[in-house]
Amino acid sequence: MDEQRLLALVDRMTPEEKIAQLQQLIGAFYEGFHDVELLTGPMEELGISQEVVRASGSALNLSGAETITRVQQAYLENNRLGIPLLFMADVVHGFKTIFPIPLAMGCSWNLELAEESARVAARESAVSGLHVTFAPMVDLVRDPRWGRVMESTGEDPYLNALFARAMVRGYQGSDLKGDTERLAACVKHFAAYGAPEGGREYNTVDMSERNLREYYLPAYRAAVDEGAALVMASFNTVDGIPASGNEKLMRGLLRGEWGFDGVLISDWASVRELVAHGAAEDDREAALRAIRAGLDIEMMTPCYVHHLPELIEQGAVDPKWIDEAVLRILKLKDKLGLFEKPLRGADPAREKELLLSPEHRRAAYELAVESCVLLKNEGGVLPLAPEAKVALIGPYAESDDILGWWSCNGERKDAQPLGAALAERLGAGRLTAVPCGLDRVTAAELDAALAAARSADTVVLALGEASEMSGEGAARTDIRLPAAQLELVRRVKELGKPMAAVLFNGRPLDLSGLYEEADAVLEAWFPGTEGGAAVADLLVGRRNPSGRLTMSFPRAVGQIPVHYNQFSTGRPFQPGREGDRYVSKYLDCPNDPLLPFGFGLSYTDFRYGEPVLGSDRISRDEPLRVSVEVANTGRRAGVETVQLYIRDVAGEVVRPLRELKAYVRLALEPGETGKAEFLLTEEQLRYHHSDLSFASDPGAFRLYVGGNSRDTREAAFTLVGQASAF
Ligand code: NOJ
Repeated sequence: MDEQRLLALVDRMTPEEKIAQLQQLIGAFYEGFHDVELLTGPMEELGISQEVVRASGSALNLSGAETITRVQQAYLENNRLGIPLLFMADVVHGFKTIFPIPLAMGCSWNLELAEESARVAARESAVSGLHVTFAPMVDLVRDPRWGRVMESTGEDPYLNALFARAMVRGYQGSDLKGDTERLAACVKHFAAYGAPEGGREYNTVDMSERNLREYYLPAYRAAVDEGAALVMASFNTVDGIPASGNEKLMRGLLRGEWGFDGVLISDWASVRELVAHGAAEDDREAALRAIRAGLDIEMMTPCYVHHLPELIEQGAVDPKWIDEAVLRILKLKDKLGLFEKPLRGADPAREKELLLSPEHRRAAYELAVESCVLLKNEGGVLPLAPEAKVALIGPYAESDDILGWWSCNGERKDAQPLGAALAERLGAGRLTAVPCGLDRVTAAELDAALAAARSADTVVLALGEASEMSGEGAARTDIRLPAAQLELVRRVKELGKPMAAVLFNGRPLDLSGLYEEADAVLEAWFPGTEGGAAVADLLVGRRNPSGRLTMSFPRAVGQIPVHYNQFSTGRPFQPGREGDRYVSKYLDCPNDPLLPFGFGLSYTDFRYGEPVLGSDRISRDEPLRVSVEVANTGRRAGVETVQLYIRDVAGEVVRPLRELKAYVRLALEPGETGKAEFLLTEEQLRYHHSDLSFASDPGAFRLYVGGNSRDTREAAFTLVGQASAF
């Protein structure tokens, strides 16, 4: 439909019909109200009438081709103007075939595989009737106490922006109308939800606008520039004002400055929460602030439907704002082709074929392999020796809780646990699996574990957090492994056997009590439906680990936030000068993390040459060529992620010690030498100044190249020419 016809449609709508378009409700409302009270509390409290349900614009978290077909058809029978209902859901890392959690995906540094995961997720969801996914989540994260770090790709603004784009491309493709196997993407949570004070869920976020623009906004911006159809407002305050009612952030920055003309949706109940925040006296004021801020859809609370009519009548709300919001929603429905095909991709027969298809499982397997990060490997404990007898011990030895939080329609029964996958690979009699509790290891379990360990050549401990220990509402102050698991580590260690650990968890952990004790540690995160097979293949050496951390692992909670792109301070600590008192340091812990951003080992070794620069100068017109040779000096083929960082030595405002600017993944055969080549431009040296201008500062720069953000080779160059404003 062209815009004129959509405008004409808006004109034909009554004020009640328009406002109902702005209401989003959970699927249970459309299914004859079953279970609604369970999910939302007493109906009278929510105060949603049947009329609103019948005319509301969108539903969330309902899926299944048959269900959606039935609901859409019933809805349209009652809809005077034939405006179809939109179906949205949290398809975050897969729909039925579950991919590794986003933090793990980030560690693959593989944008093609990430894009493919979004394409597969879109395909499965669309055939099951969905139109919109509440993804990608692109919040920059620096605090592993926060449970939702598992939903993010990590601590770096540049890498997060690349993943944001890849995911939007994967979900949306290039033609939402023609290609009914895609979904509209909703980037979230705008803005800076990943920076809650103390890592406590839903807590205050407060930072300078410069900091916000420099680190937190780039990934949302990238998703918007890539064409994300929707944006979701976050729960937190941004400079004192909750995002859902933040006019400067939404109408000003997002719509005005960035030109976003898609649909802006609240988070669950975040309009009404303006009252709890203390930013509105009541629902009426909450509705006023949200609509004034430019928020189109209210998720799950009824402030708009109850109060917009009176606010319009009183002249506090311009009816034009409502028309604009409705038009944006109708445009989205049109963009998805729903006016012509209200059932869009929903197809019960194809649904059976596509969900968990071998092709989809293969994609999930590949990403799971590439997401795992080898954190330690001493004495070549991994891969497991071909004839070794192995004891697999711990809560994850046979657990199918490997999908992770936000696993949508994924079912644990479809995931093969590590024990079964490893048994298939090791063959009869070589594996003894001894599962135990996550928080409690009984005496009998311990005895069995120790007996198995004694008669094995190598012990593999399968440890971690339960999936519900990360995700929404799962902040922790102590991010070590549960005490019972640490005790298990201690007891097995006493036997003196070669000991590897595999970790299943949703956040960087404090690895005290494990990292020193184990000879090898493989971080598997929550690897998804094919995680068992992927981890088993890595353990036996059929595949070679290539993941790199995208979030630092702290030595202790007291260091948090600890991230690679920190500042120097005026009194930087000098390694080797532990006795200096008046420098920026802790008395009881080093400054740097246990494992830095970019870190990850391989079963082979890589040797770096010196970085070679095309010139010692860079200017606006002349970018800088940088190359480095990397040799595979080991005995196996492997992939090295060659990372390029810079430091602006002196800026108008201080600049981080290191900033990732580019990377290349090199696949190298044993003995092969490859060359990573980069082209650095002046534009990549720009940053936000104190007046918020985005410009570069001529002067001295350092350049670092290496396999992680800590162990690098260094060079220097100078930026010449005028400071260049954006
Ligand atoms: C709350 C979460 O913050 C958000 O990420 C999610 O999309 C909505 N609930 C809907 O389930």
